[in-house]
Amino acid sequence: MGQDLKSNAEQWWQTGVIYQIYPLTFVDANGDGVGDLQGIIKKLDYLNDGNPNSETSLGIDAIWLSPINQSPMIDNGYDVSDYYDISDTFGTLEDFEILLEESHKRGIKVILDLVINHTSNQHSWFVESSSSQDNPKSDWYHWQDPAPDGGVPNNWLSYFGGTGWTFNEARKQYYFHTFNKNQPDINWHNTEAKTAIFQMIRFWLDKGVDGFRLDASSVYSKDKYYRYNPVKFGATDKNNYHNQHHLYDKNLPENHQLIQEIRNIIDEYEDRVLIGETFIDNRLYDSTIFYGINNDELHLAFTFEFPLSPWYPGYLQREIDKKELITPKGAWPTYFLDNHDIPRHLSRWIECSLCTNPLGIAQAAAAILLTVRGTPVLYYGQEIGMVDNEDIPPEKIQDKAIVKSETGELPPPRDGARTPMQWNDSINAGFSFGKDVEPWLPVHQNYPEVNVERELKEPDSILNFYRQLIKARKNNEALRIGNWRTLIHYPYEHLAYVRETKAERVLILINFSYEKDLTIDEHISKDNWQVLVSNVRETDKIINLPASLEAFEVSVLRK
Ligand code: NOJ
Repeated sequence: MGQDLKSNAEQWWQTGVIYQIYPLTFVDANGDGVGDLQGIIKKLDYLNDGNPNSETSLGIDAIWLSPINQSPMIDNGYDVSDYYDISDTFGTLEDFEILLEESHKRGIKVILDLVINHTSNQHSWFVESSSSQDNPKSDWYHWQDPAPDGGVPNNWLSYFGGTGWTFNEARKQYYFHTFNKNQPDINWHNTEAKTAIFQMIRFWLDKGVDGFRLDASSVYSKDKYYRYNPVKFGATDKNNYHNQHHLYDKNLPENHQLIQEIRNIIDEYEDRVLIGETFIDNRLYDSTIFYGINNDELHLAFTFEFPLSPWYPGYLQREIDKKELITPKGAWPTYFLDNHDIPRHLSRWIECSLCTNPLGIAQAAAAILLTVRGTPVLYYGQEIGMVDNEDIPPEKIQDKAIVKSETGELPPPRDGARTPMQWNDSINAGFSFGKDVEPWLPVHQNYPEVNVERELKEPDSILNFYRQLIKARKNNEALRIGNWRTLIHYPYEHLAYVRETKAERVLILINFSYEKDLTIDEHISKDNWQVLVSNVRETDKIINLPASLEAFEVSVLRK
């Protein structure tokens, strides 16, 4: 049975801010052009130096590292070839232990990405499994005989394009892969495979990691009888994967049982978190059941409401509203704007009709993320306003996992949002000192203006806005655990909502336009408010509730 969140409302993974690091492009300490663990260690003080009044730290509470295990890097780490070792690209197990210790010293929790829907085809388990039909691990992956005509066993597809089945000569059989053919799916029906994975999970928990982000956590389950997926009538999505009902290749009822088993392991340890990438069709609705009806599955379920929203207040508000209504009692929401699979939000939203003011969007988006009810997850670089690098020449593309679909279309590579962190205006934006090496992906050319060092010095930078918002969360329980209540019930060009506990009320006002009227569809005290964070009002000043908003105003006020 899961923990009762009501009696333990302030757990670190509920109140803290999580920061996703893409290790390949965060910091390169050894000068080979690729990020590494020693690099991350060097930058921990930037993330949180342990001083609540720090002038230079962002103040986050946990880091989630995209995969760092040994990997041939076909999917940049999401294809693990040894779960017990650290990729040579990133360093050694000892480096990881230092990273863990140094993070913990500063009060930073460490969350690992656990990729257990599939392994790399170079993992020793798969090498053995694919060697013959009668080896001890022959059943650890999804092997099927060819169809009578020699073709694929059924119509299951790969999310990355094309069929999900690849033929293996040695076995004269096909194996299934939800993603790239180099990422064979593990057969979770096999109890030995399951035990081996559970043992590995314990290894990292014993090391002291604070939790996991489960990659593709709703895809583990596959139909035992390998039945055909029904095709969606008349569907014409460019990615053929979306033209099927995925009845039999993911999100089966038994998926919940698997997550419960993993959660049981987590619960043997103190204070750990289980976050899942719920990779499903009815994203919000289905994802809520991944908390488990007894709150015994995921602690936090990633859904994609902000990434899939247009930059429009009514739309965003509806998404938050829905999530508030649907999140089960005792469960806790989580939100993010960006991750390593999607274009960064400033690149996504720059085309919208209300977007004449990119700094305004960055401030408003930051404020929404850090003041809604739920755990905010930041993606490296968003705090300095990084945008996608859209000028990566084809020969420099690193995202090699996605493949052409039957119609010959290639989904856009995800590299644009994975370019090096911009630390300063020196060579390679301070990401890598190696003069003669090229960074793993080209640095965005805006780095002389958009970088940490410069923005720390500019009081009105987006970085300092993030720092203030994070500080406001730390200092105000209403922002951490308070209820969320909208003050507007039909679409205006602004958002106005409160977060409140018995003791505290915080009002959040976000204007998406030049429109100035502050119309609030409810009586809210006209008393004085203290400015916690604002892009137009003086911090800490006590003000009356404004009758109108400034253009693109973002203000967080406390009663
Ligand atoms: C989801 C990850 O976020 C993505 O980067 C990866 O390619 C797939 N899962 C496969 O592991």
